[in-house]
Amino acid sequence: MMAKTEKTHTQLAVASEVVADSAELIIEIKDLWRKFFEDTPAEVQALRGVNFRVERGEFITIMGPSGSGKSTLLTILGCMAPATSGQVYIDGTEITEMSQRKLSEIRKEKIGFVFQDIFLIETISALDNVLLPLLPYGITKEDRQRAIELMKTAGLDDRMKHKPTELSGGQKQRVAICRALINDPPIVLADEPTGNLDSQTGGEILELLRKLNYEKRITILAVSHDPKLAEFSSRDVMITDGEITRDRINPFRDHNLS
Ligand SMILES: Nc1ncnc2c1ncn2[C@@H]1O[C@H](COP(=O)(O)OP(=O)(O)OP(=O)(O)O)[C@@H](O)[C@H]1O
Ligand SMILES: [Mg+2]
Repeated sequence: MMAKTEKTHTQLAVASEVVADSAELIIEIKDLWRKFFEDTPAEVQALRGVNFRVERGEFITIMGPSGSGKSTLLTILGCMAPATSGQVYIDGTEITEMSQRKLSEIRKEKIGFVFQDIFLIETISALDNVLLPLLPYGITKEDRQRAIELMKTAGLDDRMKHKPTELSGGQKQRVAICRALINDPPIVLADEPTGNLDSQTGGEILELLRKLNYEKRITILAVSHDPKLAEFSSRDVMITDGEITRDRINPFRDHNLS
């Protein structure tokens, strides 16, 4: 048991050393805890002292058993849920003590979130779904043009006017990814983006994420159990019982990307 713990720590040290030399940290997490029902007999420690650093442009696959804290971590990073203690820096700004108003600003500027359940509005077009996050701020002609460009990148050229009910699962998920990107965020968080799709449609989504990371240098953190995703990730991380128990750099990534 002891030997196993020591080995894990060595692997952690290796991965964080590589990141520590970089000047461009986009995410930094220090001793992050998230407890539910704190100080009651039902207390759940969903995150237990997570330390983690992400360099701009990384593509990280997060794996781990059900209930290990993956979604909890992503929703905190996505400024959608509070931490119990610890610090989280998004592009240099500490978010754990922020007001709701400031959090929503950070979310708008920095984060695109792709959910496992796609959550499209059925009564409006795919294009309008992509534009939805901008609705509170007023949608300009330029926004509309950007949405069209994004949808073209995602191979949805001829599906913009379609309603979600007229789209396949993979097309719907691509619309959801375009929606996550409409704010031009430097970070995309994806919680099992291919979870509900068959393997071929899932492959299209992976290809889109790969392209966004490789061509646009968007930092991606994706919860996924798909080995294909891990192949072109720069790093893969395992979370077990609220702790990072593995953190590996992928030495074959450039080979797999080309
Ligand atoms: N809102 C909540 N209230 C109470 N407990 C919660 C809440 N959200 C999550 N938990 C608990 O926190 C732990 C971590 O949950 P989380 O959703 O982060 O797991 P996960 O790794 O994403 O699992 P899965 O792979 O099944 O999606 C679980 O024990 C879960 O029951
Ligand atoms: Mg989850």
